[in-house]
Amino acid sequence: MDLINFTGKDIVRTFKMNWALLLLLASCCITWSTAEHSTSSAEPRKLKYLINPPVFAEVIGRRGDNVTLPCILQSKPNFYKVKWTKLQPGHVGPENIIMISNSHAFKPYGHLGLRASLRNAHSLDASLTVTNLELGDSGAYRCELINGIEDESVQITLRVEGVVFPYQSKNGRYKLTFHEARAVCAEQDGILATYDQLYRAWTEGLDWCNAGWLADGTVQYPILYPRPVCGGGPLPGIRSYGPKNKQRDQFDAFCFTSQMSGVVYYISGAFSFQQATHACQRQSAELALVGQLYAAWYFHNYDQCDGGWLRDGSVRFPIRNPRERCGSTYEAGCMGTTREWK
Ligand SMILES: *[C@@H]1O[C@H](CO)[C@@H](O)[C@H](O)[C@H]1NC(C)=O
Repeated sequence: MDLINFTGKDIVRTFKMNWALLLLLASCCITWSTAEHSTSSAEPRKLKYLINPPVFAEVIGRRGDNVTLPCILQSKPNFYKVKWTKLQPGHVGPENIIMISNSHAFKPYGHLGLRASLRNAHSLDASLTVTNLELGDSGAYRCELINGIEDESVQITLRVEGVVFPYQSKNGRYKLTFHEARAVCAEQDGILATYDQLYRAWTEGLDWCNAGWLADGTVQYPILYPRPVCGGGPLPGIRSYGPKNKQRDQFDAFCFTSQMSGVVYYISGAFSFQQATHACQRQSAELALVGQLYAAWYFHNYDQCDGGWLRDGSVRFPIRNPRERCGSTYEAGCMGTTREWK
């Protein structure tokens, strides 16, 4: 796993170069939180059948990886079923069943479908294997042992490792409804970020002075260096406007992406957008998406001191090591991305 090693300044710098830093936010209706994050402090309950706490409380993978969520029995009731569910954030809404199995067979349900199976490494193993991780797989999962008498469960968090990037409409700042925000993230090879993902990005150095939609329909933004133009409050933290009207209100978006299967590279030249498109095509590649550029920057320390066209018509350059006079010109090359690793 890459050790991510950068400071808040690097990111601020990178983002600054991508967009001019923006604008005044009304401070009237913003709340802000400091560096607190809810953690469960309850002692794990001793269970009769399931090992608790589970072998790992958190399992981490990147998009495309295969992971196993551990759930191990320490003794076996005579008859039982194992039910795996994905918990909704806040534990509201319908139960999202992934599978129910007895000792002989399992029946997959829900959005994981055939990507989910029981590992069955031994007779006490009820661990869940998830193949080909997708961006939306992050979250809390529950392994439940059902024997009709004393049902037991353990909870495991699956975290897809990745990077959060802010995204703004071509038409300018604060032009996206919630549904449009979801669509632009998908167009850029991402999904709307969750609060947890934004929070983690903030701890890794994300400071962004424009509010964006998150997956839960709230609008928030991360501030490391409090300044008057970025809303009230003397402390760093995630500023929140709370839930907004998904049909009517317009903001930017915070998207989340992870590892991809291609590689982003730079073709130098002073291209128009059209010429850049063709330059990539001649190499059997295509112009990169914003999410792909961020993934290359985050996972592969991609650093390129020249602006390049991306498929959405923006010109960007990824900087890991901020330096003078980097990216001051808009001589555009192109960011190509091959469909597979070279
Ligand atoms: C994940 O598992 C599938 C099915 O077993 C396998 O074909 C694939 O190569 C695995 N992928 C990775 C990244 O290990």
